[in-house]
Amino acid sequence: MMVMETAPVLDIKVGYINQRINPNVDLVQEINRLKQQKRAVLLAHYYQEPEIQDLADYIGDSLGLARQAAETDAEIIVFAGVHFMAETAKILSPQKKVLLPDLNAGCSLADACPADQFADFKAQHPGHIVISYINCSAATKAQSDIICTSSNAEHIVSQIPENQPIIFAPDRNLGGYINRKMGRNMVLWDGVCIVHQVFSEQKLVRLKARHQGVPVLAHPECDAPVLRHADFIGSTSQIRKYARENASRTFIVATEEGILHQMQKDSPGKTFIPAPPESGCSCSQCPHMRLNTIEKLYLCLKYEAPEILMDEEIRIRALAPIQKMLMMSAEIA
Ligand code: 13P
Ligand code: SF4
Repeated sequence: MMVMETAPVLDIKVGYINQRINPNVDLVQEINRLKQQKRAVLLAHYYQEPEIQDLADYIGDSLGLARQAAETDAEIIVFAGVHFMAETAKILSPQKKVLLPDLNAGCSLADACPADQFADFKAQHPGHIVISYINCSAATKAQSDIICTSSNAEHIVSQIPENQPIIFAPDRNLGGYINRKMGRNMVLWDGVCIVHQVFSEQKLVRLKARHQGVPVLAHPECDAPVLRHADFIGSTSQIRKYARENASRTFIVATEEGILHQMQKDSPGKTFIPAPPESGCSCSQCPHMRLNTIEKLYLCLKYEAPEILMDEEIRIRALAPIQKMLMMSAEIA
C-alpha cells in the first residue's frame, strides 16, 4: 500500500530533520527495502537501540566499524553511531556517501579535545609522539601520529620504544589504564566519557558482595577505582567475546547497556547485570548514541541526509594516522 507523507522539512546543514512519518509505515520493512534499493550498508555500534542493531549489516566496536567502512563496496554507508565514527568512515572512504541519522550525535571525549587547544598542548610537549583515541574529531586526528581504539591501544603502545615520550589523548582513563598496566608514563589529555566516568565504585562493590564470584567485565573508559574491581577489561567486542566464551552464568557489565542486547542474544541462558552509575538513574545509556532512532534512520536513508562532509586537507592529514593504526593492529581480531 502506498502511504502519503507530507513534504519533508529538511535542514541538512544543521542536521535537524522535521519530517512527519505516517505511523502506518513499516519502518523495518522500509529500511530494508531502501538499503537494498540504494546499495547502502548499515554499520551500527553496540550502543545503539536494539531495534537499530537488529537492522544492521554489521555491528561492532570502533575498530571493527572502521575496518568495515574501509572495505565495504556499498555506495552509501549509513552510520548508526556517533559523529567521530561516521567521520572516520568518510576519511577512509571519501568516494562514498556517509550518512549519520542525527548530526548532533557527538561524544564527550571528542568535545573535550578541541583541535586548537590540542595544538597548544602539543607545543608544550616537544619531542612527544601523539597517540589519539579514535574518539576525537578529524581535526584532532589530523594532529596525531597514530590513532588507536580500545581494542588495539595496548598493542599499539607496546610497539613504541620505552624511551620515546608519548602524548595520549583524549581519554585520561584509557591512557591511565595503559600507563598502569604497561608501566608507561604517557602524558594524558584530561578527557573522560560521561557514561563510563559515572559508574559507582561503592555500588559496584556492594553489588559484587551480593553476587559472590560473578565476574565484572569493564570497559577501559571507566575510571581507575572501578577498573580495580574488574575481572576483565576490554573493548565492547572483547567484553562480548569474553561473556560468550566464559563458563560463568552471570556477569556484571560496566559499559553502556546497549551491548547487553548482543550478549543476551549470544547467550540466552546467561544473566547480565549492568554496573550501577553514581546518580539515582539506574540506566547507563549514552545520550549521544541514543539520539539515533529508527525513525531518523528511515528518514536518513530515504532522503540521503544528513551527510558527513569534510575539508579535504583535514581528511588527508587525518587519514595517515588511521592507516598507521590499521597497519599496526592488522593481527588484532
Ligand atoms: P569500543 O566499542 O571501540 O570499545 O568503544 C566504546 C565507545 O565508547 C565508543 O564510543
Ligand atoms: Fe563518547 Fe562515551 Fe558516548 Fe562512547 S559512550 S560515544 S565515549 S560519550
